[in-house]
Amino acid sequence: MQSPAAFPSLPCADGRWQPVRLAPDLFQADVHVAAHEPACIVVDQGRMVWVGPEDALPAGHAHLPRHDGQGQLATPGLVDCHTHLVYGGQRADEFALRLAGASYEEIARAGGGILSTVHATRAASEDELLAQALPRLRQLLAEGVCAVEIKSGYGLALAHERKQLRVARRLGQLCGVTVQSTFLGAHALPPEFAGRSQAYIDLVCDHMLPTLAAERLVDAVEVFCERIAFSPAETAQVFGAARRLGLRVKLHAEQRSNMEGAALAARHGALSCDHIEHLSARGIAAMRSAGTVAVLLPGAFYTLRDTQRPPIDALRAAGIPLAVATDHNPGSSPCLSLLLMANMACTLFGLTVPEALSGITRHAARALGLQDSHGLIASGRPANFVLWPVQQAAELAYWLGQRPACRIVRQGRIAA
Ligand code: NIG
Ligand code: FE
Repeated sequence: MQSPAAFPSLPCADGRWQPVRLAPDLFQADVHVAAHEPACIVVDQGRMVWVGPEDALPAGHAHLPRHDGQGQLATPGLVDCHTHLVYGGQRADEFALRLAGASYEEIARAGGGILSTVHATRAASEDELLAQALPRLRQLLAEGVCAVEIKSGYGLALAHERKQLRVARRLGQLCGVTVQSTFLGAHALPPEFAGRSQAYIDLVCDHMLPTLAAERLVDAVEVFCERIAFSPAETAQVFGAARRLGLRVKLHAEQRSNMEGAALAARHGALSCDHIEHLSARGIAAMRSAGTVAVLLPGAFYTLRDTQRPPIDALRAAGIPLAVATDHNPGSSPCLSLLLMANMACTLFGLTVPEALSGITRHAARALGLQDSHGLIASGRPANFVLWPVQQAAELAYWLGQRPACRIVRQGRIAA
């Protein structure tokens, strides 16, 4: 197996990072620094301890070593709040089938789609899955990602779901990045349960989830609520089981049709509802009341050549935080660039650049329940930030596939 970078030996980031420019709206609100004004971020023992204008640096920090920020643009470390990064195989053949006119649902009903990746994932060992996922994660990280969510859902049996979740944990340790793991056992009905959906959901709730939670492999629980997956009643049963274990929930909601899943998820205090192309007014009202984040996944919209856009204006009007993620998976979104997703959120969904940048930082952190530690440059937080060689923040969503040569401070270490 490929040997991973020795994360703990990376250089320590403690010191004064100056001069930098702070990207608007992505640093703590009580600090007043204009976009062009030279600023400083002080890191001590792996945490940001002071942020502000360079000329207001408190004398107490002046003795710390200086890192030349070169006047670059500083953003929080990016957060990819929705990925299916750990899986076996790939599905390029389905790309060709869709180009020839087959729909995602037709491919799924014919036994391809998610189930094809389930077969490949079950056939792979834990180490093989790790070896396949590691380069994918490294691509995300190279673009400034400092926290990433990884779902299971391609095992659909205890041993195989465990394998995926263990790989997610190992990836976080190997790469020194915050990984939030989501148990998505209710992603599709496994072939051995064909025609016995309720029996599978009972297994998920009564055995798989409690076992994996006891093994501390689960940070949140998710369901794919859709005509080709699980019903609202089955979704509610999984959410009930999750909440009895004290776990937060989220939902792949209203992606291909309106199942009123978002309202259901919001009633269970969901962290986020994701996809939401077919989200209803009722769903929006419920999400607003519950403080649920809307996660936009333009990579899946683009790949599936969807035409139904999420109701952005109504979400905005309701004041619902909009996050943006890659949804990296081998079927509907084989994409490993969060900046490209920010671009697509603007061009395909009509987000403004500031909305897209908040979507891949502060709102994405909130979608994972990490709003107190990630997604914002602020004193008291772990040092996760990125310095970009760009003149203005809009360039982060403007260049297509350019991958700017950023410098990354991740978990208090200089990662690139
Ligand atoms: O986010 N919506 C369901 N799950 C994934 C697709 C998974 C797959 O096709 O393998 C998604 O689009
Ligand atoms: Fe997804």
